[in-house]
Amino acid sequence: MTEEIVKSALSKVMYPGFTKDIVTFGFVKDIKIDGNDVSFTVDITSSAPEVAQQIKDEATAELKRAGAAGVGINIKAPVMPRESSSRGKNIAPQVKNFLMVSSGKGGVGKSTTSVNIAIALAAQGKKVGLLDADIYGPNIPRMLGVADVKPEVNGNKVLPIKAYGIEMMSMGSLMEEGQSLIWRGAMIMKAIEQFLRDILWSELDVLVIDMPPGTGDAQLTLAQSVPVTAGLTVTTPQGVSLDDSRRSLDMFKKLNIPIAGIVENMSGFIAPDTGVEYDIFGKGTSEPMAKEFDTKVIAEIPIEPSIRTGGDEGKPITFVAPTSESAKRYLAAAESIWATIEEINANGGVDNEAVQPTTPPGVSACSTGGATASSHSHSGGGCGCN
Ligand SMILES: Nc1ncnc2c1ncn2[C@@H]1O[C@H](COP(=O)(O)OP(=O)(O)OP(=O)(O)O)[C@@H](O)[C@H]1O
Ligand SMILES: [Mg+2]
Repeated sequence: MTEEIVKSALSKVMYPGFTKDIVTFGFVKDIKIDGNDVSFTVDITSSAPEVAQQIKDEATAELKRAGAAGVGINIKAPVMPRESSSRGKNIAPQVKNFLMVSSGKGGVGKSTTSVNIAIALAAQGKKVGLLDADIYGPNIPRMLGVADVKPEVNGNKVLPIKAYGIEMMSMGSLMEEGQSLIWRGAMIMKAIEQFLRDILWSELDVLVIDMPPGTGDAQLTLAQSVPVTAGLTVTTPQGVSLDDSRRSLDMFKKLNIPIAGIVENMSGFIAPDTGVEYDIFGKGTSEPMAKEFDTKVIAEIPIEPSIRTGGDEGKPITFVAPTSESAKRYLAAAESIWATIEEINANGGVDNEAVQPTTPPGVSACSTGGATASSHSHSGGGCGCN
């Protein structure tokens, strides 16, 4: 046996699911030859046991065909992610926890909150991802100062963009600037699923998900695709915003998502020159709503010009001015969120089984009745239409 024969035999072994072989991918290492005995290491990126097994079987067969007697294969795979206590459907199993950031109303500061909470969690040692699930109005790339960065593509997957110690992906990073999106309904669902499945997120402690305003398809699809560990509602102190926030909290309840708290944003105004705090939209008005939903206000973030400029210039306040009053409040909120997430997991985690669609996406519940209804069924397939 020679190294050439070994490599040529192994280059017939395709990496499962790809059209390239394990030698071309550079996965084959430490080839050792002793007479007709061969041993080597395959350093793969997947922790799925069936991937390792398939490579072992095919490599052994190819080497035997090429004349090898003994074949020793050491598969080096990443460690399996820690078993999450959550159940149900999870199309991004390498992510341990999901935090959905929602509001009933637009423009209240969801994206700003998502960015600063994500950075605060990373500053506290967590491995953090930030998914901009606002398909029509993606703002996160600008807020993280990576509006011009295009992501790297790896096969048919996309690598998240790194900024300020977190991983990020956004529709804004995948399309040309200014290009308008004319996607509707089913496409939102598809996009959210792809963001979870086809982005090569690392093994994250938490993925923070910045949602579009309201309680629509995006929220439902997310809850059906992954077990959302906790939800965070962002509101401003005015009555009209609180009314809408109730809907957002109500949605968490309907989707069985535990509530991590409320961020009252634009709560008072700190004058940059004097440091004096003024009441503009009101302040502290979210408290009764928190009680009503058995949760708490985890931060009152004042209106601060540097929060807005930080967003526009891609310099998040929690990163560039961590000792500022607002940053301190974001950091405290992140601690509170993490404590809630740990408590949820200690109590058995979450389960999204109950919110799964009863029919495949895009298929109306009523269109499946006749043809597939079994002879035992008298209910028209259980769709409730008959
Ligand atoms: N506490 C704050 N102080 C000053 N400006 C703020 C504050 N919070 C948010 N802003 C600014 O308000 C604007 C809206 O905030 P943001 O984009 O985070 O809201 P949103 O809820 O994500 O909006 P949308 O519903 O459009 O997604 C941004 O320009 C942001 O910089
Ligand atoms: Mg936003």
